[in-house]
Formats: sequence, C-alpha cells, structure tokens
Amino acid sequence: MALLGLMSFAALTLFLVLTTVPRQAHASSRGNLGRNINPSVYGICASSVIVHGYKCQEHEVTTDDGYILSLQRIPEGRGKSSGSGTRKQPVVIQHGVLVDGMTWLLNPPEQDLPLILADNGFDVWIANTRGTRYSRRHISLDPSSQAYWNWSWDELVSYDFPAVFNYVFSQTGQKINYVGHSLGTLVALASFSEGKLVNQLKSAALLSPIAYLSHMNTALGVVAAKSFVGEITTLFGLAEFNPKGLAVDAFLKSLCAHPGIDCYDLLTALTGKNCCLNSSTVDLFLMNEPQSTSTKNMVHLAQTVRLGALTKFNYVRPDYNIMHYGEIFPPIYNLSNIPHDLPLFISYGGRDALSDVRDVENLLDKLKFHDENKRSVQFIQEYAHADYIMGFNAKDLVYNAVLSFFNHQV
Ligand SMILES: *[C@@H]1O[C@H](CO)[C@@H](O)[C@H](O)[C@H]1NC(C)=O
Ligand SMILES: *[C@@H]1O[C@H](CO)[C@@H](O)[C@H](O)[C@H]1NC(C)=O
Ligand SMILES: *[C@@H]1O[C@H](CO)[C@@H](O)[C@H](O)[C@H]1NC(C)=O
Repeated sequence: MALLGLMSFAALTLFLVLTTVPRQAHASSRGNLGRNINPSVYGICASSVIVHGYKCQEHEVTTDDGYILSLQRIPEGRGKSSGSGTRKQPVVIQHGVLVDGMTWLLNPPEQDLPLILADNGFDVWIANTRGTRYSRRHISLDPSSQAYWNWSWDELVSYDFPAVFNYVFSQTGQKINYVGHSLGTLVALASFSEGKLVNQLKSAALLSPIAYLSHMNTALGVVAAKSFVGEITTLFGLAEFNPKGLAVDAFLKSLCAHPGIDCYDLLTALTGKNCCLNSSTVDLFLMNEPQSTSTKNMVHLAQTVRLGALTKFNYVRPDYNIMHYGEIFPPIYNLSNIPHDLPLFISYGGRDALSDVRDVENLLDKLKFHDENKRSVQFIQEYAHADYIMGFNAKDLVYNAVLSFFNHQV
C-alpha cells in the first residue's frame, strides 16, 4: 500500500545501510545526481533537469494552511524553442508517500516521465508534498514543532492539491492533465469524489492506484499497518515520521523480528517483485530518498489498510470525531461520486504488493458506472509498485500509453 510504498523504501534504505549490502559502483558515473551537483543545496531543477539540457523553473506555492510547497516547471522539450504558437497543455505530476518529486528523475533522461512529457509538447509541473525536503517551510510553523506535522492525507486533499492546481491553472490558463503514483492516486480520487479540482482538470492518469488496501499481501505491510495504530502515540506522538531517524529505525527493526517476516529483501517484501529496476537507479534512489511525512499520515494510511474503507482520519475517540466531523465515525470518501465523464486512465501491475490486484478491482467496481469511453484501464502482468516510476522500460509499457491517453482528450 501507500504506506508501504513509502515504508518499503524507507525500510529498504535502512536495511541496506544497516547491513552494508555491497552496492555496485557505477551509480555515480551516470547522469545527474552522482555528479557534482548536490540536490539538497541546488534543488531539483539544477540537479536533475537542467543538467540534461532542459529549461526548468523553481516555483513556490503557499497552501491556505501556510505550507510553502516547491514546484518544478519544465516548460518545453529539449532543443525545441517555443515557436509553434500553440499553447502547451499543463501536466501536474504527483509522487507517492515517503518520496518526493525527484523520484521521477532518477533514470537516464530519455526514460524519465517528466522529460518525456516535455519532449512531447507538454508544460510539465512536478509537485512536492508538504514535509519533503524542498517543501518543508511554513509561514509560521517550524518543522521541529508538533504543530507542523499535524496533518494526514485529508489535508493534502483540502490544501496541497487545491493550492497546486490553482497555481498551475492561474499560470497557464488551461485545464490540467494529471499523473499520480500511489498516494498521488488516492489523494486525487478522494478529491475528485468531493468535486474538488474537477473544474480545473482535463484528465487524470493513475499509476499503481491505491484506494482500497485491504488485500495488501505482504506480511511486513500487514504487520506494519496493524502495529501502527497502536504504537503511534507511545512511539511517535504527533510528530515527523522520518524514515532516516532513530525512532523509525527501531520501529522497523522491531517489525522485522516478528515471526514469518523476512526482511532480507525488503523492497520485494514491500512493493512486490519489481521486474525492471536498474541497480544504478536504485542506488540513486537510495541517495535521494526516502523523505519524511507526518506520523498522522502514516496512521491514516494504516487505518485504510485495517478498515478496508476510505474515510477521513479516524480519531477513534467518538468525542474527538464529533468535534472534528460532527459525527461519531469519520465521513467516507465515496468514489462513486467521481464525475462519470472525467477522463481517467488507470494502470496497475500484476506483481504490485501494495496496489493489490483485488483492491484495484474493488476500485474499478466503484467506477463501474463511469462513462465507458472516458475510462481506460491498463494491466501489466510483470509490473510491481516501483516499476511505474523507475522501470527502465516504463516509457514503452506505460508512459507512451499515458501520452496517447492525454492526446486523445479533446
Ligand atoms: C491538530 O489539529 C487539530 C485540528 O485538526 C487541533 O484540534 C489540534 O489541537 C491540533 N494539535 C496540535 C498539537 O497542533
Ligand atoms: C542500467 O544502467 C546502466 C548504467 O547507466 C546501463 O549501462 C545499462 O544499460 C542499464 N540497463 C538497462 C537494462 O537499462
Ligand atoms: C455512494 O454514492 C453512490 C452514488 O451517489 C450511492 O448510491 C451510494 O449509496 C453511496 N455509498 C455510500 C456508502 O454512501
């Protein structure tokens, strides 16, 4: 699941660090991040886009609750001057949980989704969720405070996504095409179900969609989700969930001690058997991710795994739920309310342990009254969760289909 999409990476990183699995040495000879440009100093445009010969602008948008998010805009493709006169269509690209916008840029440039979209005539905007390294500022709160981390993905629905969509819409004056992966699909679906964003949206491509998580089939994932709700308050309180921090490290180690949990190959244990990751890309991934999120967000995701239903954050105590929602139980996000004529492209993988095939089928069932010609579904038997962002053949298998989907919307 999403939690795991993230946790998997977090856990993988920790695992590799802890056990010093020998890594191949060629990572740093390739492409972008391994060279002299330090992404934590110069940002995503400088470290991962401009080095490949593309224009790239750093933008900033402030949410209604005060978080200052970074966005990278790649306004055109490589080597093409913007002479054609036709206005380019904007695309917003949204990563999943525990990673940031950099994850789309870790393969050689001709394999990276944002650059492929730019080369094919789109005006590309890469979003970065609150709490990740380039979106950690707030108008008044400091990331060292608990108040800064007092949010779950409900707030991404209420604040982050509307801020990004309003900004891109106002800058481009055009309806937006959307690509989301993992948590980026859940937040989008929840938003659409409440009628949010849809007036500014042209179409949406959802890769490794997560909405229902009850079939998530990895032992570690299930144990993590079950443990999470119980351990949250004692272990983390209302705080940053930093996969590189000691508390999370200890938490993951304790999970790996459960009988039946094999932590030898965590990436596989958590995301499924990714078919198509290049080891040099995984090395770059480990240099750049994982990123923090809020513990409350992880708990909300864990609730989704346990309950099998899509609801707002559950405060568990009825009086707290009443205080926040006016009801004893948190309100549901009813995906059947997504406008039936919204163009949707969904791609899911047969080996994805987070976005389990049965859960995706449950999602598709919720969308069964969607206009048939506005719904396009792709199934890739050999793909798992991370193949969708970093697979060396994702262009051939997935991104070309996304391009053709976008180009077919009038
Ligand atoms: C967290 O936010 C809720 C409102 O969503 C508020 O009731 C609560 O006091 C906040 N807690 C902290 C520590 O800021
Ligand atoms: C993996 O990356 C290395 C280094 O860039 C490259 O030489 C190799 O061809 C890549 N393998 C695949 C299958 O793309
Ligand atoms: C969700 O919405 C559909 C269509 O609007 C409605 O028929 C259904 O009863 C709703 N489900 C829930 C659980 O509220």
